[in-house]
Amino acid sequence: MDTKAFRSALGRFATGVCLISVYDPDSGAMAMTANSFASVSLDPALVLWSIQNDSECFREYTQCSRFGISVLNDQQTALSNHYARKGQHAINDNDFIRDSNGVPLLRDALAQFSCKLHQLHEAGDHHIIVGQVEAFSVADGTPLLFFGGAYNSLSQAGQ
Ligand SMILES: Cc1cc2nc3c(=O)[nH]c(=O)nc-3n(C[C@H](O)[C@H](O)[C@H](O)COP(=O)(O)O)c2cc1C
Repeated sequence: MDTKAFRSALGRFATGVCLISVYDPDSGAMAMTANSFASVSLDPALVLWSIQNDSECFREYTQCSRFGISVLNDQQTALSNHYARKGQHAINDNDFIRDSNGVPLLRDALAQFSCKLHQLHEAGDHHIIVGQVEAFSVADGTPLLFFGGAYNSLSQAGQ
């Protein structure tokens, strides 16, 4: 299969953008940009995202007991770019709060989910991480979108 063409076809599916965050005793508090987030189940409350097997943060995200998901708004492109860079996953404490279990969550996110690691599935060059949502919050705003390998916003869509 032509991997470049396949990646391009996958990019025709518009998504939101999240920061997945974790506290690791050795590495500290970290965040990574991800658009593989999806809802899975309402009862029990389950969500998923997938991590590439060669990520420098693979151990921290697959061996944690809890992690956070923060949905970005369209004013947070710089945060998305920052936490998508290798070697730039240590969080800036000013931008994050901690939940009752010490998991970092982005301030001013459109939605925050505090998750317990529920299941881990090996899937090709990624692992699927399923989280059980223990707490969540929402805020007003316009989502940051990712489409065709570029950022977009609902306020620009359809123009
Ligand atoms: C919009 C966007 C979405 C991304 N989604 C994912 C994802 O779902 N899973 C993943 O493992 N990496 C994803 N990445 C890549 C990571 O954010 C990051 O660039 C990559 O993990 C860097 O390599 P490292 O993990 O070795 O530091 C995404 C990057 C961007 C810009």
